[in-house]
Amino acid sequence: MNEKLLQHLRTYQQEHLLAFWHELDEVQQAKLVSQIESIDLERITELYRLGASGKSLSIDPCNANPPSAVRLGDGDRQESEAERVGSEALAAGTVAVALVAGGQGSRLGFDHPKGMYPIGPISGDSLFDILLGKVVATGQIFDAQIPVYLMTSPATDEETRRYLEESQYFGMPSEDVKLFCQGTFPAVDAVTGELLLATKGELFLSPDGHGGMLAALARSGALEDMQQRGIKHLFYFQVDNPLATVCDPGLIGHHILASSEYTLQVVAKQQPEDKVGNVVELEGKTRIIEYSDLPEEAANLRNDDGSLKLWAGSIAVHIFDVDFLCRMAESENSLPVHVARKKVPFVDVDGHQRDPEQPNAIKFEQFIFDLLPYAAEAITVEVDPARAFAPLKNGPGSATDTAEHVQQQLMHYHRCMLREAGVRVDDAIQVEINPRCAMTPEMLKSKIPRETEITKDTYFH
Ligand code: UD1
Repeated sequence: MNEKLLQHLRTYQQEHLLAFWHELDEVQQAKLVSQIESIDLERITELYRLGASGKSLSIDPCNANPPSAVRLGDGDRQESEAERVGSEALAAGTVAVALVAGGQGSRLGFDHPKGMYPIGPISGDSLFDILLGKVVATGQIFDAQIPVYLMTSPATDEETRRYLEESQYFGMPSEDVKLFCQGTFPAVDAVTGELLLATKGELFLSPDGHGGMLAALARSGALEDMQQRGIKHLFYFQVDNPLATVCDPGLIGHHILASSEYTLQVVAKQQPEDKVGNVVELEGKTRIIEYSDLPEEAANLRNDDGSLKLWAGSIAVHIFDVDFLCRMAESENSLPVHVARKKVPFVDVDGHQRDPEQPNAIKFEQFIFDLLPYAAEAITVEVDPARAFAPLKNGPGSATDTAEHVQQQLMHYHRCMLREAGVRVDDAIQVEINPRCAMTPEMLKSKIPRETEITKDTYFH
């Protein structure tokens, strides 16, 4: 028995973690020791104490105001100036991409990293294929190198690496795709605060949230790599949105013109209860209040014309200044930790595997958008959801955000692109456009003669 470790665990009433020590072989013992040693027990004890007290939000959402924002239809001049400035930044090679892909597809009934989900409505192309395709296409348009920093989690890392290597990074130069793995938090028993064992020799660990990106970027050397490459702006988005306007020159331009350190792309919420983060102004700062933290009373506040007061829904597309991230990464624990009560299977004191039916545990997570209040300048830019937001969240049969919904949205947008390019296509025709073929209606114009009529289902690639 490792006496020193036992003593350390006793200080925090966690000695049960070694209850099965004598049943483990040497390799398992070494693994358990290294897991335990990597955990800051004092911090976890403190987080549990705060979490169990139910105090998570220190602000009152009912006092929130909508953000001042660049809204759709605000004027073409502003728009074209932003596009010009964003395009210049892309051409100068000062923009990189951060793609968070730590999630598994389990909610979709897909037993692989979510990025591997075959979402292309006709092609069956995966989310990674489509999203990296957009980066490749943008790089070609601007004749620029656009590195991608892709975050995995311990659950998705190995398979994602293998998949991307086998797929030859979907046309990206391999040296421009930097994978880095996020960290974890242990889960604790909601009543006792004891860390849970997933097996007799392993702690139950879960990903530390996309907020883990900040520490993981620093730890993996990615921030340093960005600085060496002269990257100034990081276009951040989630792997679950194949409509994401990756490297949108207009958005990048607004960010630069406003000297923003943190820019948010938002959509106008349709319903008070939409499952998106709410972008608000509170105490002079821009913040996101997650849908689960927004009381009904605040969500339902209306303007005189009946529109929602807190209208701005985050689609988790952000632009960060690299200098801002470097500054934030230096101050340890700059991000708060959120707690969530969840069902966590575990091994009990008698060595039995337990699969609870009710939430039994507290899981900890950090959110990247909690960096917002620290930004010296933060701006919000509205986008039309029909061209920018089709999140894949739920399994078949759910009311929203299923693969079927996403595919319908993709095809709808691609039909709109074709029509804008002067091509005729009926709503009954299925179309899909590979981003490498065209990212915009203008690019389609040079490929398909005007007045062409599409009469059968077509994949443009
Ligand atoms: C998230 C946002 C919400 C936003 C919505 C847009 C949070 C807490 N909420 O909601 O504000 O309106 O997306 O679609 O983020 N991920 C990791 N590692 C993690 C956790 C998540 O990489 O530890 C990645 C996942 O791969 C996924 C994304 O982050 O792509 C979103 O995570 P998810 O938990 O699905 O967030 P939502 O509740 O859908």
